[in-house]
Amino acid sequence: MDTTQIKVWDPLVRFFHWTLVAAFATAYFTGEELEQVHVFAGYLILALILVRVLWGFVGSPHARFRNFVRPPGTVLAYLRDEIRQRAARHVGHNPAGGAMVVALLVMLTLSCVLGMTLYGAQGHGPLALLHDLTTRHTRHQIEEVHEFFANATVMLVFFHVAGVVLSSFLHRENLVRAMFTGMKRA
Ligand code: HEM
Repeated sequence: MDTTQIKVWDPLVRFFHWTLVAAFATAYFTGEELEQVHVFAGYLILALILVRVLWGFVGSPHARFRNFVRPPGTVLAYLRDEIRQRAARHVGHNPAGGAMVVALLVMLTLSCVLGMTLYGAQGHGPLALLHDLTTRHTRHQIEEVHEFFANATVMLVFFHVAGVVLSSFLHRENLVRAMFTGMKRA
């Protein structure tokens, strides 16, 4: 087996990933109390996503969306192959991983924007003007939707980590370590 190592994940992608993991865990576990920490973690997630989306257009080859976002048919075919344990190895994100990246970015953005909306409706932050435009009932509904999206994002994270573990076993490589070092087998 060729053991030559190549650089796959650039420093920005790695910094983005592990800072995002820390910020998401912080936001999730401070939801009920520690409001200031919760809000700060939410803003941090939004800032990280903004940078990552820009990097998806101008960043290193494996970070670019056009190199890992594939049509639904390709994603489904890849998932079928993965179940049959004959999925091809990809040095960057595989088609299912690419779809998961997009789903995570969208769900995280929606969760954070809804959180900002709720915070604004409660009279705080940049959307504070929403306070006078909403009733207590509306605020309660926004809170429910915000929680729904946060929990749905946790579900996605569960499948994301399961996919990482499965692919690591299938191709006998440590994908988690690669997200730390940036290096993978050629
Ligand atoms: C401890 C748990 C986690 C582990 C072990 C993990 C591991 C990984 C690995 C290995 C990759 C690269 C996959 C590949 O090789 O194609 C990746 C990508 C990614 N993960 Fe995670 N992840 C974790 C938690 C999370 C969480 C909590 C989030 C979001 C809330 C997240 C969001 C992402 C995103 C957006 C990418 C794409 C990175 C990029 O291209 O910039 N991950 N993760």
